[in-house]
This record gives sequence, structure tokens and C-alpha cells, in this order.
Amino acid sequence: MLERLKQLEVEALTEVSNVPGLKELNDLRIKYLGKKGPIQEVMKNMKDMDPEERKSVGQISNQVKAVISQEIETKKEALEAEAIALQLANETIDVTLPGRMPAIGTIHPLQAILSELEELFIAMGYTVEEGPEVEWDHYNFELLNLPKGHPARDMQDSFYITEESLLRTHTSPVQARTLLAAKGKGPIKIICPGKVYRRDDDDATHSHQFTQIEGLVIGEDITMADLKGTLLELVRKMFGADREIRLRPSFFPFTEPSVEVDVTCSKCNGSGCSICKGTGWIEILGAGMVHPNVLEMSGFDSKKYQGFAFGIGAERIAMLKHGIEDIRNFYTNDLRFIAQFK
Ligand code: DAH
Repeated sequence: MLERLKQLEVEALTEVSNVPGLKELNDLRIKYLGKKGPIQEVMKNMKDMDPEERKSVGQISNQVKAVISQEIETKKEALEAEAIALQLANETIDVTLPGRMPAIGTIHPLQAILSELEELFIAMGYTVEEGPEVEWDHYNFELLNLPKGHPARDMQDSFYITEESLLRTHTSPVQARTLLAAKGKGPIKIICPGKVYRRDDDDATHSHQFTQIEGLVIGEDITMADLKGTLLELVRKMFGADREIRLRPSFFPFTEPSVEVDVTCSKCNGSGCSICKGTGWIEILGAGMVHPNVLEMSGFDSKKYQGFAFGIGAERIAMLKHGIEDIRNFYTNDLRFIAQFK
């Protein structure tokens, strides 16, 4: 009997040491230590033994069970540690790999122009004003010296909302609003960037909605020289320090005299090319000395105060600056277009 037990111990330990995994190990536990196992079988027969034999067989059985059970426990711990080590090895993270960068957006080229111009004018002491996009006819036209029926209203095809209100056709109504708010007292130095609307058919150079930047300066001895100096600053900031400008006589109802402003072509530097259509000059904005009627209608004494105003098309500036050929690019939001301005 004792022989049999020793033999079982050797068999069990050999099997345990060769077991491949936890599941098989558990099977061995049942096989050797379970109720129907061989050791249990030996113990069942103990009742038929004489007391001496029963005692030693009982002791050895318990020892063998303890040895096998201890061995199974040790093996189990080893197998579990192996499994964890394997899992850790499989899940290794290489912390030196570069991360995946989130896609970072770009400033829209139009917004960039507006920010640049705002920065320039704020540095020159201007404040930035806003006005409503749905505007009264009164501000959009009448207070700008364009009474009802004035032929110059045809220069700007309008989206009327009612008889008296419309989508503003330019940012110039903010001039009237600013003058009224100042209650006849200067000085004033403002710019106003914003959306404007015209009933144009959209094509490469026309958009029914576009962006202007209005400027208005009012004081007691403002001259056309101040206007020219300011515009030269603006042009050199936008197009380069070696640009020149020229003022051409023009007509706007709200300025007298009125000018259109050209800049030397930055492609050919004035010698003439396809961009400037061979003239060496590119028209970029309208401006002039504020018409006395405009001052008076909004409560300013035109004997005491004068000033200048200008209106810039922001898309036009951006198109010239970046060589953009179609104004619709600003509004169709094709990321391939926008991402070029990183
Ligand atoms: N409001 C004009 C337009 O949209 C542009 C303009 C011209 C604005 C002359 C001005 C100005 O302030 O003095 O065509």
C-alpha cells in the first residue's frame, strides 16, 4: 500500500511538472486529489487494515496529498505569472513612437486680412465699430447723400426687405450711425469691417455677399494729405514697403472730392503685366473727403469739422495679395483651398 502511495506521488509530480496550462493543471488536481482519485481510493480501504498499518497508511496518504497539493499550488502560481508576463509582452506600448497629431485648422485668408487691417488701424488710434447687416434705407442711402430716386443708387443693386429696409449694400451706413452717436462732436477715428450684399450674379469677380472695411476720420483740420498718408500706410502694410499709390478723381455721393486709389502692381512693379492689364497700376479702393451734406445731416457743423472716408473690398485685397483668381473660393469652404494659407 505504501509503495502504491509513493508511486502515485512520483507520477503526480511528474505530470504536474509537465502540465502545459492552468486548465490541464486543474484536471490533474481532480484526477489525483478528487473524491474519486487513487489516494481517496487507498484511504477507503483503510477500514479493513490492522491498526498499525492503518496508522502509517493514513499518515503517508495525508503527506502525499499535501505534497501533491503544494506542488499543484506552486505550479499554478508559476503558470499565472507566465500568463501575465506574456500578456504584458504582447501589450507593450512604445512610448517613443510619435503621437498622432490632431488636425489643426487655419485662419481663413479673408479673416487674416481683416485681422491685419484691424491691427494696423488700432495701432494708429482707430476704434473698431460694427453696424447691422439688415439696415434702414435711411442710413444705407439717405444720410449718405443719396436721397430716394438718386441715380447713384443704381450703382449698388440692393436686396430690399421692406420699402424702408434692406441688406446693407456697403459698410458706409456705419459712418452715419457713428456721426449721429457722436452728437456733433469730434474727433472720430473708426474702421468698420463687415459683410455687405449686392444683387449681383456670382462669377469669378462678383459675389452677392462680400466684405468691406469702412474707414472714417473726422476732426477740425483733416486734409486730403491725411487721407493719402493713411492709405499709403495701409497699402504698404498689405502689399509691401515699396508700393506707391495714386489717387484718381472719381465720384461717390458721400464724398467730395472723391477718389479711386490705385497701387503699383506688385507683380511687375509698375512696368505692366497681365495682372495689371499692362497699366502698372491696380485699383484697390474708393475714398474721399466726407461731403458737407453728410456731416450736416448727422448733426456736425461742416464749417468746423472735416474728414475723410474710405471703403475697401477685403476679398479684392486678399485676391491681389495671394493671387486668388475666383472670389467664390472664399465662400465654398474647400479645405484644400483654405489649408494653403497655413
Ligand atoms: N461705399 C462705397 C462702395 O461700396 C465705397 C466707398 C467709397 C466708401 C468712398 C467710402 C468712400 O467711405 O469714401 O462702393
